[in-house]
Amino acid sequence: MNIAVVGAGYVGLVSGTCFAESGNEVVCVDIDRARIAQLEAGGIPIYEPGLEELVRRNVKEGRLSFTTELEPAVAQSMVSFIAVGTPMSETGAANLSGVLKAAESIARAAVGYHIIAVKSTVPVGTNDRVREIVGRNGGHRIDVCSVPEFLKEGSAVEDFMRPDRVVIGSTSEQAIAILREIHAPFVRTDNPILVMDPRSAELTKYASNAMLALRISFINQMANLCEAVGAEINEVRRGMGSDRRIGSQFLFPGVGYGGSCFPKDVQALIHSAAEHELEFTILKASDEVNNLQKRIMAERVKQHFGRDLKGRTFAIWGLAFKPRTDDMREAPSLVVIEQLLAAGARVQVHDPEALDNARTIFGDRLSYHGTNYEALKGADALIIRTEWNQFRHPNFQRIKAELKQPVIFDGRNLYEPSLMKALEFKYYSIGRRPV
Ligand SMILES: NC(=O)c1ccc[n+]([C@@H]2O[C@H](COP(=O)([O-])OP(=O)(O)OC[C@H]3O[C@@H](n4cnc5c(N)ncnc54)[C@H](O)[C@@H]3O)[C@@H](O)[C@H]2O)c1
Repeated sequence: MNIAVVGAGYVGLVSGTCFAESGNEVVCVDIDRARIAQLEAGGIPIYEPGLEELVRRNVKEGRLSFTTELEPAVAQSMVSFIAVGTPMSETGAANLSGVLKAAESIARAAVGYHIIAVKSTVPVGTNDRVREIVGRNGGHRIDVCSVPEFLKEGSAVEDFMRPDRVVIGSTSEQAIAILREIHAPFVRTDNPILVMDPRSAELTKYASNAMLALRISFINQMANLCEAVGAEINEVRRGMGSDRRIGSQFLFPGVGYGGSCFPKDVQALIHSAAEHELEFTILKASDEVNNLQKRIMAERVKQHFGRDLKGRTFAIWGLAFKPRTDDMREAPSLVVIEQLLAAGARVQVHDPEALDNARTIFGDRLSYHGTNYEALKGADALIIRTEWNQFRHPNFQRIKAELKQPVIFDGRNLYEPSLMKALEFKYYSIGRRPV
């Protein structure tokens, strides 16, 4: 099958590469010339475990290529996936300009029967809008389908290769059959391909992300209550998570959810509901809880060191919104860094993959360090924002030697409070008794 993937970001590049890996001939199209030039030169513009090797192999074997020219890529394909960004607009609604523009260009370029499969996360009703645009611009029969993507950054290749489910939103038998065939190699272990109408497919994506965001906000607020009443969130989490109706996944307290999806998708769903005169109260609460949670650690820093942080230096481990990615969009680290800088502190940062993105965002307002220990030198305290594996068992003696004072603000509960006490650290974490 010849496939075009429009938008070569976290979703498009991973999807295109995995489609190529299963034997299809795939062209990834992007308007970002620098990104395409980098890919053509053998570089990978994002960090995603396992992706580089797959891209290299499929390029070498002639199944994967990159271009800024949409027309020829679509003309030679039967299916075009749209995987462009749908960022939050000022109103909170998803900005669909990239999706609609891509759809129009695909409709104009398509030769013969064509499927436009929208992978970007788009508000309910977008499929109809795309169909209208296609109707005005396409000379051929074009089926517009919603095929939302559920991969997670940090395990995107694995998720794409073995998805929990594939959702196909379409009413066209022909399109459904072709999309089933394209996805068949990824569901060999009988994970379901769920076929539904496009509106339900669009909402399924938002419903999934909204539920996950809710779980995080719930456990975060529960953690705050644990601290207030002297309970231990990990005990509570284990106790409730072993109820099979609740489950133990995605119930870890921390410094709030970030990334390019949850914050914007929660806002977009609130906005979609409002358009239909429905107030999505529970999601508004989730958003509010999350925004407060992102600020909690800096408040604790101020309680410990005083509100004026002039002359203080803080080391931050972890900038990406989660481990195994370089993505800093809406990352909780952004909030704490701004709070510390605003209070007059100096900030020294380390992240295994996100330093380049951090430099683009903060320029010379921070100092950047290639190793976690270097970031500690002369700092008053260590603040942990991302649960990278390599932070789980550090050399605590070295941390102590590098810091001016043995103080750790751990936003990811990486360490045991009893161990911290034994090592004579002042240790703050989330939902546990301070030691
Ligand atoms: N990142 C995730 O984990 C994830 C997971 C599931 C779904 N999604 C959804 O997938 C979509 C893409 O997300 P992403 O994280 O890959 O975004 P991204 O910002 O990493 O990539 C989007 C790419 O699209 C390109 N682009 C924009 N307009 C274009 C156009 N008209 N033609 C061609 N290329 C264009 C951009 O240059 C960019 O390279 C979003 O709707 C997002 O909500 C993301």
